[in-house]
Amino acid sequence: MLKLGNISLEVPFYQAPLSGYTDRAMRVLARAYGAPLTYTGVMLDMIALNKKASRKLLFRPGVDEKPVGAQILGANPETMAEAAKSFVNVGFDLIDLNFACPAPKVLRRHRGGYLQKEPETVIKIIQQVRDSVMCPLTIKLRAGFDSSQESRDKFWQICRKAVAEGIDAIVIHGRSVKNMYRDKGDWEIIKAVKRQFPQATIVGSGDVMDAETVVMRLKTSGLDGVIIARGAIGNPWIFKEARALWEGKPRPEGPALTEQGEVFLRHYELIAEIRPMLKSVRYFRKFAVGYCRRHPQRRQVQAELIAARNRDELYAAVRKWYGVG
Ligand SMILES: Cc1cc2nc3c(=O)[nH]c(=O)nc-3n(C[C@H](O)[C@H](O)[C@H](O)COP(=O)(O)O)c2cc1C
Repeated sequence: MLKLGNISLEVPFYQAPLSGYTDRAMRVLARAYGAPLTYTGVMLDMIALNKKASRKLLFRPGVDEKPVGAQILGANPETMAEAAKSFVNVGFDLIDLNFACPAPKVLRRHRGGYLQKEPETVIKIIQQVRDSVMCPLTIKLRAGFDSSQESRDKFWQICRKAVAEGIDAIVIHGRSVKNMYRDKGDWEIIKAVKRQFPQATIVGSGDVMDAETVVMRLKTSGLDGVIIARGAIGNPWIFKEARALWEGKPRPEGPALTEQGEVFLRHYELIAEIRPMLKSVRYFRKFAVGYCRRHPQRRQVQAELIAARNRDELYAAVRKWYGVG
């Protein structure tokens, strides 16, 4: 069990926020296959305060998605607090503050991972958001801005103060902001945070690509939880498999090709509900790459699915390779 404030999850892992991926479609499937909690991709605080976006309620979660978290990005404590309130008002159950995003355009605007250089701003944001919402509040960090000692010191300073502020969890991706996705994530630093703050809830992230790794990390790290990020793209089954292994059961048989094809099409249709057809086919390609990984003729299948230019071609390729649709 994993407790995030007053929300208890049956299993100590959940769907990580993934910008450009964890929209409603991916969240619904992750949940259907056993994720006890899902998150939006990171959203700029201003989106919640933008009248047009708010009117259309583009970011309102479905009633079938409980519990679901919103992750917010921004640098101004007041707008972050306002945004958190808006997200809670439209139905999100938890708020996660992003101090991890390494995208250059985010860093240029002094948001996301950049704020690991400014522990005082991070703490002000936590305090103001804490005062504006009652729901569980968590933060996402990387292991410092870069590999310097100064960055490491600031990372510890943020952890220490966040714990003192009563943050409901610190989620740590064990790479520095500057490191982006190079090298392997450093789990030693995440474990060290848990050792330093045993009462705090510490959740780890990095290179959790299959169910075995989920369980290995949980059993060997002493952490309270782990999040599943890239490992869940086109692979909702990872949650079912991780649940079984965590509960000491045998690994379930992998999904039959027909089930893979059905889930693939269901995912596409959920996306098509909110995007025009041509855009949805293009948008879906990145998920198709993930789904193909389980197919024995992965490369050929991937090439054909990616070449599909419209819905009919996508369905034809799925019929050919998965026998459904
Ligand atoms: C395409 C992509 C989008 C991501 N978007 C977000 C995001 O919106 N918010 C966030 O906190 N982390 C984001 N991450 C980081 C992941 O949540 C996770 O911490 C990281 O990928 C390490 O885990 P993994 O190696 O198991 O994928 C993103 C990662 C990827 C690859």
